[in-house]
Amino acid sequence: MNDPTDRAAFVTGAARGIGRAVALRLAAEGRTVFAADRDLPEPAPGVRPVAVDVTDCEALGAAIAEADDAVPLDVLVNNAGIGFAEPLATMTPERFDLLMAVNVRAVYFGIQAAAAVMAPRGRGSIVNLASTSAFAASGSPMTAYDTSKGAVRMMTTTVARELAPAGLRVNAVAPGTIDTDLTRSIAADQAALDELVARRIPLGRLGVPSDIAAAVAWLASDEAAYVTGQTLVVDGGRLT
Ligand SMILES: NC(=O)c1ccc[n+]([C@@H]2O[C@H](COP(=O)([O-])OP(=O)(O)OC[C@H]3O[C@@H](n4cnc5c(N)ncnc54)[C@H](O)[C@@H]3O)[C@@H](O)[C@H]2O)c1
Repeated sequence: MNDPTDRAAFVTGAARGIGRAVALRLAAEGRTVFAADRDLPEPAPGVRPVAVDVTDCEALGAAIAEADDAVPLDVLVNNAGIGFAEPLATMTPERFDLLMAVNVRAVYFGIQAAAAVMAPRGRGSIVNLASTSAFAASGSPMTAYDTSKGAVRMMTTTVARELAPAGLRVNAVAPGTIDTDLTRSIAADQAALDELVARRIPLGRLGVPSDIAAAVAWLASDEAAYVTGQTLVVDGGRLT
């Protein structure tokens, strides 16, 4: 039941950061991993790069179906995400729509495409990347981003219920502050990150992508066979 070697995972946003760590982790467990990104990911043992912009829902659906034709998918990780610190006053409709297209719409239609190929086999695990900002506002003004992650959290709950009769599980991981390009693009500087760690993170360090990959791998695995609709917070205690 636990042998993943004849199965595959599709991971979005897998060129770097958390998505890259997830792809390498799932590949190390023996799965074929389709690593999808708008920037073509570097190949690695067991990792097959796929070029796709997730804002193009048709292209995303086609890439998922094509991957499944090559090796049956039993895992989808909706990791691709963008974020920017943007006060309400300066946000534009175009930037808002882009954020929602990547962080929300692509997750929804990625699930739709994966469910279409997984449901007939009656098994599959989908893991979405939410954020602690689905629970508590980000430190910098990021209302649009926080809203998108709140949507991912609720989508996870609702679609888990919808897909459970088909034998599919859907969960999310909510990272705290993880040391990636995304975090460094938002943080003012290293001193701001050091202060955040000192004041807000009880375990005393930023997270690293492998912290999140471990949680994703567990939710994806049969060890979590009775877990669905949950958002697992992995944040060094930040929300405590
Ligand atoms: N880093 C954190 O502290 C943190 C905290 C909470 C949640 N998250 C979430 O985790 C996920 C990964 O974050 P990260 O820090 O690794 O980000 P990152 O910016 O380091 O990497 C994101 C990846 O997604 C890809 N991507 C972006 N837009 C895309 C598109 N339209 N089509 C295809 N690929 C696209 C990028 O090319 C990049 O490879 C995101 O959903 C993010 O919101 C991150």
